[in-house]
Amino acid sequence: KTYNVAVLGATGAVGEALFSILEERDFPVGEVYALASERSAGKQVEFKGQTLTVRDVAGFDFSLADIGLFSAGASVSELYAPKAAAAGCVVIDNTSQFRYDDDIPLVVPEVNPAAIAQYKTRGIIANPNCSTIQMLVALKPIHDAVGIERINVCTYQAVSGTGKEAIEELAAQTAALLNGKPISPEVYPKQIAFNVLPQIDVFLANGYTKEEMKMVWETRKIMGDDRIQVNPTAVRVPVFYGHSEAVHIETREKITAERALELLRSAEGVTVLDERKPGGYPTAVTEAAGKDPVYVGRVREDISHPRGLNLWVVADNVRKGAALNSVQIAEILAKTYI
Ligand code: A2P
Repeated sequence: KTYNVAVLGATGAVGEALFSILEERDFPVGEVYALASERSAGKQVEFKGQTLTVRDVAGFDFSLADIGLFSAGASVSELYAPKAAAAGCVVIDNTSQFRYDDDIPLVVPEVNPAAIAQYKTRGIIANPNCSTIQMLVALKPIHDAVGIERINVCTYQAVSGTGKEAIEELAAQTAALLNGKPISPEVYPKQIAFNVLPQIDVFLANGYTKEEMKMVWETRKIMGDDRIQVNPTAVRVPVFYGHSEAVHIETREKITAERALELLRSAEGVTVLDERKPGGYPTAVTEAAGKDPVYVGRVREDISHPRGLNLWVVADNVRKGAALNSVQIAEILAKTYI
């Protein structure tokens, strides 16, 4: 059996990764439709050695597709996901538009695959935020073993999470500055090249940014545990691909670093790289970029807390943080439900 797939946001950073991951994993595609705005209609994208012509989503008949992989922004999903679902196309949505709706499943396949069954209610499945996905893939085995009470996390997030314009801004600023030329930030509020910005997404009333609160809300929903306390600081760094996270947890029962490493070594989707020597840890550029696993290292007991554990977690934000997670959901959907 094959499935007709529509990729909305086909010309974007995540859209491109969706095509390559569908191809790499040999997803059983029938027809594939590349959709974007009217700006890109007529452009061409490559898929499985073929050339697909990008269509304007506004005129697309979603009854042609079985599965829609949406990654064109929240307002675009707000408009088109219900239309697609009504036409019988199950939407896997990469935006934040539906993540917090009680009747829409929010899924990380390594953590809560059973939640996918709930797609039937509205025909939409939400893909979580990139930072949340990689953190929970790493924390799930520890939560199952000893329970997590509190998570203190600082992120170091790549510009590709913002999209193609941000990738271009980092490249252009870097080149300009190295050539002694002036720059004027456009995508980010301040210079991103050679700098670190403690703001991702908009500020909310409590002083946290929306990116930070996404990690709070989504962790509880995906883990199915409203007692988990999460205290994030989300930071943009001048890296193209790969988010890093310094994750500090307090567990209900004490867990040793040794036991945590043992659990992580057999956890689905995790690769441990933890050697206490120079370079004995994963990084965004050297390990994660272009790869599928969530990499974990620097696992050590917190010297300031009796039930504290520290971890360094790195993954490709465009792949596991977005496109790969969506395709994994599509695989389960195809295999089990449609
Ligand atoms: P387009 O090329 O037509 O602008 P990125 O996250 O890398 O910035 O990519 C965003 C993706 O979402 C692009 O494929 C972009 O297509 C698409 N997109 C943005 N706005 C719309 C819209 N209003 N309708 C359809 N697609 C959109």
